[in-house]
Amino acid sequence: MAGLIINIGKFKLKNPVMMASGTFGYAEEFKDFIDLRKIGAVVTKTITLKPRQGNLMPRTCETPQGMLNSIGLENPGIESFIRDKLPILKKIRVPLIVSIASEGNAQEFIALARRLDKFKEVAAVELNISCPNIKINRSPSHQATRPQNQKLIAQDPRATYNLVRAARKNTKKVLITKLTPNVTDIVEIARAAKEAGSDAVSLINTLNAMSIDVDTRKSKIAAITAGLSGPAIRPVAIRMVWEVYRKVKIPIVGIGGIVDTHSALEFFIAGASAIAVGTGNFINPKASIEIIDGIKKYLIRNKIRSIKNIVGSLKI
Ligand SMILES: Cc1cc2nc3c(=O)[nH]c(=O)nc-3n(C[C@H](O)[C@H](O)[C@H](O)COP(=O)(O)O)c2cc1C
Repeated sequence: MAGLIINIGKFKLKNPVMMASGTFGYAEEFKDFIDLRKIGAVVTKTITLKPRQGNLMPRTCETPQGMLNSIGLENPGIESFIRDKLPILKKIRVPLIVSIASEGNAQEFIALARRLDKFKEVAAVELNISCPNIKINRSPSHQATRPQNQKLIAQDPRATYNLVRAARKNTKKVLITKLTPNVTDIVEIARAAKEAGSDAVSLINTLNAMSIDVDTRKSKIAAITAGLSGPAIRPVAIRMVWEVYRKVKIPIVGIGGIVDTHSALEFFIAGASAIAVGTGNFINPKASIEIIDGIKKYLIRNKIRSIKNIVGSLKI
């Protein structure tokens, strides 16, 4: 029997396949396509304290082997999430990780973490300190947000440490810290998250990128720059997982361009304990279920008892 069970802190997952934040809505949108109870865990779209309308349109476009998005954390806010979404998610009984963020304000992260602490159906909290799409917005009907050149928390080891530490002191939930690839040294950020008490790190969020319409000579995205995701970023993500795995003893959730079993297995071999499917959900809503079956078959075919035995098994 191929063992797919993994642990992230005290959170026991029946299999290591998750849905990445922002690409799976609040799960119920996918309930007609797949049996949600088969999934290891769902990470919700990032929630903020107050509702956010997000960035101006256009906010997405296709690129070779990927897509750009600059959604700007559109979400209904924590109270609406708790009132309208959480009861549905509880009914579906899908293992749930709630992603939270603020515009660099530690107090908001603390308030969000505290608010979620008493809900048993929330298995873990993911600290999104790496969203590249919070930008200054000129329209008065949209929230004015982070200046273009301001650093993200996950671009600074000290800021990462302080934020994770503050969250750790305010929640008993399993904490996962989501990192950005838009840094020189991902290892020092992962180390800061671990030292501050994070139970795991998830990597990667999207890469800063842009695409131009040559006829209009405008960016294809209203916010001009956006986050690149999909198979195009997979080699970057795998390299970063491998670097963190070698240097920091912390469970890693590998994310970036996973679309099938083969691409998922690359992440485990590089050092991920779990993986999350993002843009792959848009291409094939059943991708995660196929990956769970595919990993099982791979383990049986290769006579490997547990998925844990291939984590970090890269031959050098
Ligand atoms: C449309 C879209 C929305 C996203 N929204 C969020 C979000 O709200 N919070 C977050 O942490 N990551 C968000 N992400 C990033 C993904 O969770 C993931 O880290 C990234 O897309 C890389 O994985 P992928 O190549 O499999 O998509 C979003 C990605 C996309 C494509």
